[in-house]
Amino acid sequence: MAQRVTPLVAGNWKMNLLRRDAVALACDLVTRLQTGSAPGCDLLVCPPAVMLHAVAEALAGSPVALGAQDCHTEVSGAHTGDISAAMLADAGCSHVIVGHSERRADHGEDDALVREKARAAHEQGMRAIICVGETLEQRDAGNTIQVVEAQLNGSLPLEAAAANTVIAYEPVWAIGTGRTPTAADVAEVHARIRDVLVKRLPDGETVRILYGGSVNPGNAPELMTVENVNGGLIGGASLKADDFWAIARACPG
Ligand code: PGA
Repeated sequence: MAQRVTPLVAGNWKMNLLRRDAVALACDLVTRLQTGSAPGCDLLVCPPAVMLHAVAEALAGSPVALGAQDCHTEVSGAHTGDISAAMLADAGCSHVIVGHSERRADHGEDDALVREKARAAHEQGMRAIICVGETLEQRDAGNTIQVVEAQLNGSLPLEAAAANTVIAYEPVWAIGTGRTPTAADVAEVHARIRDVLVKRLPDGETVRILYGGSVNPGNAPELMTVENVNGGLIGGASLKADDFWAIARACPG
């Protein structure tokens, strides 16, 4: 039986919303926490970088954590358009997503770069949410487990531990498509990820492993209660407070 870990439900807002909507969404979540019964999970939102300050203000004093969607490997320097982990920490971020499949695909990020980004986040005292997941071709070829294991091994920095690292399993073909793996498929992959974590890290048993890819209020009760699923990384559904809240409430408390 897997060890009990407080789940984390993280909203990946991607390149969506303008400042007013982002602040309103953050305020809506804070109000729900103040007035409703709190979900049994931790909550995190990851807005676009330009909205971090405004959302940080909206979340101030609340238990909702703030995260970013990417960081550079260096602390500072001549890297036009990039943002360092130090800047994110300075903006109030406690988490940063690294190696999301959209960054791996759109920006050619490989495991070695993702590992360096995770390390940069760790050096600033932040938690890295390291994303892994197979493409449809890789799943159809029966290579899901090998692909995910290789990505995980390549992307995990040496200093990774439960206190500074979260893993997100996100099948590429499930992201934004409305399609999800079966609960049994998710359980199989998460169990393998857990094995790797236990083998590599002293406290690998308590590293959170999130599932991501088309999670919605309808499928959350099933997906969020799969063994070794310790919460979710939510894209589209995190842009609607009602849906994000319903997913959070579906996590075992
Ligand atoms: P989705 O995205 O929930 O819209 O499928 C998840 C993600 O990419 O993190």
